[in-house]
Amino acid sequence: STDELHDRIRAAKATLGDRVVVLGHFYQRDEVVQHADFVGDSFQLANAAQTVPDAEAIVFCGVHFMAETADILAKPGQQVILPNLAAGCSMADMADLDSVEQCWAELEELYGTEPDADGRVPVIPVTYMNSSAALKGFCGEHGGIVCTSSNAETVLEWAFERGQRVLFFPDQHLGRNTAKRMGVPTSRMPMWNPRKPLGGNDVDALLDARVLLWHGFCSVHKRFSVGQIEQARAEHPGVRVIVHPECPEAVVDAADEAGSTDHIRKAVAAATEPTTFAIGTEINMVNRLAAEFPQHTIFCLDPVICPCSTMYRIHPGYLAWVLEALARGETLNRITVADDVAANARVALERMLAAKP
Ligand code: 13P
Ligand code: SF4
Repeated sequence: STDELHDRIRAAKATLGDRVVVLGHFYQRDEVVQHADFVGDSFQLANAAQTVPDAEAIVFCGVHFMAETADILAKPGQQVILPNLAAGCSMADMADLDSVEQCWAELEELYGTEPDADGRVPVIPVTYMNSSAALKGFCGEHGGIVCTSSNAETVLEWAFERGQRVLFFPDQHLGRNTAKRMGVPTSRMPMWNPRKPLGGNDVDALLDARVLLWHGFCSVHKRFSVGQIEQARAEHPGVRVIVHPECPEAVVDAADEAGSTDHIRKAVAAATEPTTFAIGTEINMVNRLAAEFPQHTIFCLDPVICPCSTMYRIHPGYLAWVLEALARGETLNRITVADDVAANARVALERMLAAKP
């Protein structure tokens, strides 16, 4: 039964004491979040992985790219464990190293490699945290950086100081929404089509580009629509609409504000008057906010339940399983990033950690 599972998790954690730290993303289900020592957005969790005290193991309740990042940032010898190895991210899977390298080679052909008079290189690669360690390594190796949804603007400023344009992957929406907020016209953000090599892309648009967008997207956030926002405004006059910047441009434009999961949480927590909030992000987080702040009316913009199916794969049964194994001295589901990849990825991640939200 579920109660029994919770008892097993608590017992294993008690046996392990300070030897283990459990990290959980805001999108995890409540049955998992209740066992986390620290809950946060992806920036805060990367920071936490780097700063946890000397635990032997970090059990990461989130998705694969987050656990990889934790392994890159954790102290040597610290093991990072992902309770269910099938917890991936479909957006992260939309950019692979081969396609990015091919794109890079074609961009070098188009723009050359020489800096301009201000010393800015032709292109700076920026990868969203939601990407494989290999792509973070690519960015570290090519003068680039990682961003999360909470510091994307600071990171793009960093990149524009060093480069004439940015290649942003994998999430087209975060790239477009952030650059637009910074005043870059949408017309100067062509989408790179990896299935069409240089000749097939619009070369004039590429020459004029400030941000080249990859074609990736989040299947959870792309479901939110302007129609849902209109309906929420019609049914709840005075509603505050807050969405995640992985939502499409029109949705972000129609909302009152957009921000990372932590931004959304803080916005709700800061409201002093009883307020109605319509939130455009993952349902487990929205339901938790509704329970935590009963003085407000909080609902998800999408009336059809929309969990992130891969975050949801971290079932408490898996958490019990990996913790009990650790308590017996056995490591299951360890995530490791090869040293050469990790070294380059760490460069890009440390640049990112310096770019505070
Ligand atoms: P945050 O960086 O806002 O936590 O978002 C992570 C994520 O996967 C959103 O889909
Ligand atoms: Fe990936 Fe979207 Fe799930 Fe975030 S919500 S982990 S971007 S699939």
